Order: sequence, then C-alpha cells, then structure tokens
Amino acid sequence: MSSYIIEGGKRLEGTVKISGSKNSSLPIIAATILNAGKTTLYNVPNIQDTQMMFKILETLGAKVEKKNGKIKIDTSKIEKYGIPEDLMHKMRSSVVLAGALLARHKKAIFSYPGGCDIGARPIDLHLKAFEKLGINVNQNHGSIECSAEKIKGEKINLDFPSVGATENAILASVLAEGVTVITNAAREPEIIDLQNFLNKMGAKVIGAGTDEIQIEGVKKLKDVSYNIMPDRIEAGSFLCFIAATKGNAILENVNYTHITPIINKLEEAECEIITDKNTIKIVAPKRLKAIDIKTMPYPGFPTDMQSVFASMLTTAKGTSIIVENIFENRYKYTQELNKMGAKITVEGKSAVIRGTRRLFGANVHSTDLRGGASLVLAGLVAKGTTMVDNIEYILRGYENLDEKLTKLGANIKIEK
Ligand code: EPZ
Repeated sequence: MSSYIIEGGKRLEGTVKISGSKNSSLPIIAATILNAGKTTLYNVPNIQDTQMMFKILETLGAKVEKKNGKIKIDTSKIEKYGIPEDLMHKMRSSVVLAGALLARHKKAIFSYPGGCDIGARPIDLHLKAFEKLGINVNQNHGSIECSAEKIKGEKINLDFPSVGATENAILASVLAEGVTVITNAAREPEIIDLQNFLNKMGAKVIGAGTDEIQIEGVKKLKDVSYNIMPDRIEAGSFLCFIAATKGNAILENVNYTHITPIINKLEEAECEIITDKNTIKIVAPKRLKAIDIKTMPYPGFPTDMQSVFASMLTTAKGTSIIVENIFENRYKYTQELNKMGAKITVEGKSAVIRGTRRLFGANVHSTDLRGGASLVLAGLVAKGTTMVDNIEYILRGYENLDEKLTKLGANIKIEK
C-alpha cells in the first residue's frame, strides 16, 4: 500500500479544476447496460472505483475503450448477469449493477456487498424495492439470485431515502411494463444526473431531486453521449483544504448549487465565498471559527463531508460539535487526528472537537475514503512531516489528488 508524505504549513493558493463526480459516474456506468448499444461518457474521473466498474462491465461482456477523456462503452454483447463476488466485495457500490441487469436480462446474481469501515451498509431497501416490482429475490449462503418473468411498474416507498436503493429502483423500472412511483426517494444531485442520462437515452423519468420519482417503462433505449456532472464532494473537500491552510483559491468546473450546505457552513466558520457560473472562490479567515454540524440526507449537510470538516475544525477557535446521522461508524479517523494533536472526543453519534492552535506531523493510517481525505487535510496544516498510509482508499475517490494539491502550493509526494 502506498503513502502520501506531506510537509505541512503551506498556504493553498491559485486555481484547481474539479473532476467529474464519482457518485454520479458509478450509477450512470451501470445504466449503460440498459441499452444494448454504444454509450460515450465524458468527464468520468479516472479513479479506482470507476476503473473497477469498467472491469465488471467487461467481465459481463461489454467493451470499454478509454481515449483522452472519452469513455466508449459497447454493451451490445452483454449476455452475463452475475456480478463476480470478489469484485462486489472490492466495491460495494457495484450493487447498483443489479437493477440494470434485471432490467436488461430479468436476472441478476450478486452477493452481499459486505460492510466497510463506515458501517454495515445493508441492502434490504434495494431488495424490498425489487420485490415490489415483482422480482423474485432468493438469498442463499450470501449469494442473492433475482429473477422475474416480467417487471411491472409499482408504487415503492423507501423506509429511508437511500441513494443506492433509489438508483437501483429507478434502473430496474426503466424498461418495466407500466409506471413506477418511488416515494421517500433520495434527493441527491447524482440522482438528477442519472435521470438526465436515462432520459437522453429515451427513458421517461421525472421527479429526480424531489422525494417522489416517477418512471414510465419504455421498450427500447438508444445510443447517446453524456457529460458527467462535477464532483460536489471533491469540491467541498478542496474548499476545506484551502480554508484549513488559511488559503485563498479558486475552484473551476463546479456546480455551486449542489454544495450550498457546505458553503453555508464555511461562511459560518468565517470564510469568504464568492460563487460564479461554474467557479467558486474561497478566502479563509486568519483563524476559522468553531461551528456545529449535523449530517442529513440531501439537501442537508452531506455525510461524505463530515470527516474533512472535522479535520478542518481541529484548529478552529472554539469547540465544534458534529452529529453523524447517516452512518453508524464514521469516526474511525478521529483517533488518527488525535495522534497529530487534535482534541476530539467521540460519544455515540457525536464528536466534540476542542480547537487547538496547532497540529503536529505524524504517521497516520487511512481507514476509508473520506477518513483518509481528513488525514491529508491535517497533514497540510500540521507542523512538520505527516505520512498518510493506505492511500489506495483515497485514490478510490479523488482523481490526481497529489498533483492538484501540488499545483495549489502544497508539498505532497506519493511513496510506493
Ligand atoms: C451513497 O452510498 C454514496 N455512495 C456514499 O458515498 C454516501 O455516503 C451515501 O450515498 C449517503 O449520501 C455512492 O453513491 C457510490 P445510502 P449508499 O444507501 O447508496 C442505510 C463516498 O464516500 N441503508 O444512502 O450506500 C445505510 O446503512 C460514499 O463517496 C439501509 O439501511 O448510501 C446508511 O446508514 C460513502 N438499507 C444509510 O441508509 C439499505 O438498503 C444511507 O445509505 C440501504 C441503505
């Protein structure tokens, strides 16, 4: 496993271009299965998670060609409907392929994705949605076999606005007979991007971005090209990296309407934020002010920003309180930050962060994607050298992170 070596204390300044959205690319790559033809995608981030999805698509029989920022996917020859167990465990979000395979083949065989370092990550809501659509779900020894004579549109109410369950229910309904209505649906921007992509292919989906989404089944879809939306969590992460280093910089290729909860909290911490069409400028104060955060489903404060914000607040003036309402185990990174001089105590869903003047470089361990990003932020701020190991977690979700940070003035290197 590789490591980042970071010399802290450099103020981040200049301009950084944000990549395409990981969490929009993954369901859209799965959705290409719905059309037995050719899809061209632009602005897909070149990260381990998208590479893994392409690998799974190829095992199913697709052809994937990557050429200077353009991804050409030919799914005309996809005959298989089983997601390899080892790849499923490597990337739990591949469960979204199930809905697409069911729509295409009326069959899907996959395994429980398994938990990860932020929680159990059950998929009961996905399976309940499939059953509502008339799909038989048989579970034996960890393997899940889904099949249907036909998929009939139905009313589906989600107990929780799960992003993945919403996406899987949409994908399974696109080619169904009749109309599906999903209530208590997740409202994340990535679902709007999925709707836009599907409708460009000829699907009939309305309501994404609200808690009620309607899918009118169609018979056939067509070849399209599509540009993936910017990554709102990468944008939020860079705003925090810049704010934490008392920096002053501009983000390009962002959709600021996707990150208003993040912008509001940074302004509460006394950052100055100037938004334009697809750029955001941030000017940090001399010292950030402590703030309180509660993570919520969109349009609330995103859970994916919880760890990076916590890291940024370790050197703020005052005490910050964070409540994590989405995942049950998303504070593992705090013990690593405390090794660097942070003063964080975790009580159940809450983390209390007493601001300190300074962090000190240390050897710290990434345990998950966003937790790893919080350690990189702390390394940028700390006095001295920080080694962040297991960066493969971080490379899953951030494209060229070290190059982007170096361009902003950071001193960060990868050590194999
Ligand atoms: C998506 O995960 C994102 N991943 C996550 O980002 C993000 O944190 C999460 O949504 C919440 O916004 C992708 O889009 C690939 P959920 P997902 O289903 O779909 C419970 C990152 O860092 N739940 O909305 O798995 C679940 O346990 C990743 O980029 C059930 O109980 O999230 C969790 O507590 C991490 N049963 C809550 O819902 C289910 O069937 C939210 O999960 C499904 C979920």
